[in-house]
Order: sequence, then structure tokens, then C-alpha cells
Amino acid sequence: MAEHRLALVVGANRGIGLGVVKAFLARGWDVIATARKPAEAIALNALASGSPGRVTVAALELNDPASLDGFAAAFDNGALAGKVLDIALINAGVAGPAHRSASQATEAETGALMMTNAIAPIRLARAVAPRVRAGTGVIAFTSSVMGSVALNPGGHELYRASKAALNSLTRGLYAEVSGRKLTVLSLHPGWVRTDMGGPGAAVSVEDSARGMVDVMLAQQGRHHHVYLDYQGKEIAW
Ligand SMILES: NC(=O)c1ccc[n+]([C@@H]2O[C@H](COP(=O)([O-])OP(=O)(O)OC[C@H]3O[C@@H](n4cnc5c(N)ncnc54)[C@H](OP(=O)(O)O)[C@@H]3O)[C@@H](O)[C@H]2O)c1
Repeated sequence: MAEHRLALVVGANRGIGLGVVKAFLARGWDVIATARKPAEAIALNALASGSPGRVTVAALELNDPASLDGFAAAFDNGALAGKVLDIALINAGVAGPAHRSASQATEAETGALMMTNAIAPIRLARAVAPRVRAGTGVIAFTSSVMGSVALNPGGHELYRASKAALNSLTRGLYAEVSGRKLTVLSLHPGWVRTDMGGPGAAVSVEDSARGMVDVMLAQQGRHHHVYLDYQGKEIAW
């Protein structure tokens, strides 16, 4: 699919998102990469300068409706006008409050976690879906195996609930976009050594990102919504 090769990666300035940008570039794809504060996204800007014309760095704060709507509008009449996305990976997410407990959670903590991990990603996906190529296009979300209800052993309940909510909302999104023959993915990146996953995590950013990109490429044109890990294994909902 050499002619179809533009990816959007949301939350691309560090961690898994930055790794996914590198993995797409290594495969010859161009990337639109978002960061909340592009001027401070040093590693991402270095990638953009190292691959002239192939990385477009855009500002996007998921929880600010003006930022989100402004980013989507750039495809109409701004810097991204006319761009068609082959793959859109909405990857940004947060761990939520350190106590991780529904019993201790405040309204503000719950709102911030659910907005970042579940509501805003769907709102963004809905806004960019018309820019995703019909037939072969993929909209993917960085979910987590922790969003699985079937595999939930307890613990980390707020984060789990946010990713379960994301998975549920994603199924609803799939119903909306399936008529354009898009493929929708809920992806588990593995337990990855990032700021969120910590230094003791099992998987390197490079291995996770390479696997995520392989899975997304392999899923082009499948026209379903599936829950897969970074090695392509299906996860029980
Ligand atoms: N690491 C793991 O083991 C693991 C396992 C399963 C799933 N995940 C999921 O993988 C995704 C990436 O995680 P990571 O480990 O790479 O985490 P990370 O290193 O903490 O990076 C998180 C990314 O999300 C961005 N982000 C957070 N809130 C945002 C907002 N409101 N608007 C826009 N961007 C926002 C961050 O931007 P800033 O730099 O501006 O904060 C950063 O780019 C998350 O969805 C996470 O839940 C991670």
C-alpha cells in the first residue's frame, strides 16, 4: 500500500506515541504528530527536522474543545487542508489519581480521567473520521488490557473503568463509521517502559511501537472493530 501512507498520532511527544511516530517513519510513512505544547516537544521536533517534510507537528489539548475543534478544522481550511489519513491512532491517555480508588475519587479527578481517556478521544475520532480514507482507513485507540471486563482481577479500578468506557464508546463509533468501510481498533500496547508504565515494565517503547504499527498495517481493509494487543493477539472484552 505504498501510495497510502499518512498517519495521525495523537499524544506523540513522548512515550508510546513518540515511538509510534518513529516506527511509521521507519516504514516510509508520513506523520501528523500532535503535542499539547509543540514548542516543548524537543524529541518530536528533532524527528521532524531529521525527516524534512514528513512530520507535521500540530498542537492538540484533548480536553480543550476549542483546541480539539480547531485541530479538526485545520483539515478543512488550515494547515492540514486536503490531507487524507490512512491511519489515525488516538494514543494520549493518563493514569488518573494515584489512589486509583472509586471510593476516594473526587468529582474533579473522575471527570479529568474520563474526559482524557474516554470522552475526548471519541470526540476527536468523530471529528477526524471524515478525513480517514474510506475502504482501507483505520481508526485506532491506545486502550489497555486493563479495560477488559472479562480479564479484570480487581485493582486500578478507575483507570480500568476509563479504558472500558473507551472500548464501549469505540464500539459505538464503529457503528457510525462502518458504512464508510473503516476499520476500528482497540489496542493494548503491552506493559511499556514509559513515564506511565514505569522502569520495571516488561516491554520497550521500540518493541511496543513496532508491534502496534505492524498490527495497524495488517488490519487495513478488515472492516471490523477488534481488541488486539501489540502482537496481534485478540483480547476478551
Ligand atoms: N505504558 C503502559 O504500560 C501502557 C499500558 C497500556 C496502555 N497504555 C496507554 O498508552 C497510551 C500512551 O501511554 P504512555 O505509556 O506512552 O504514557 P506517557 O508516557 O505518560 O504519555 C502520555 C501521552 O499522552 C499525552 N496526553 C495526556 N493527556 C493529554 C491531553 N489532555 N491532551 C493531549 N495529550 C495528552 C501526553 O502529553 P504531555 O506530554 O503533554 O503530558 C503524552 O504525550 C495511554 O493511552 C495509556 O493509557 C500504556
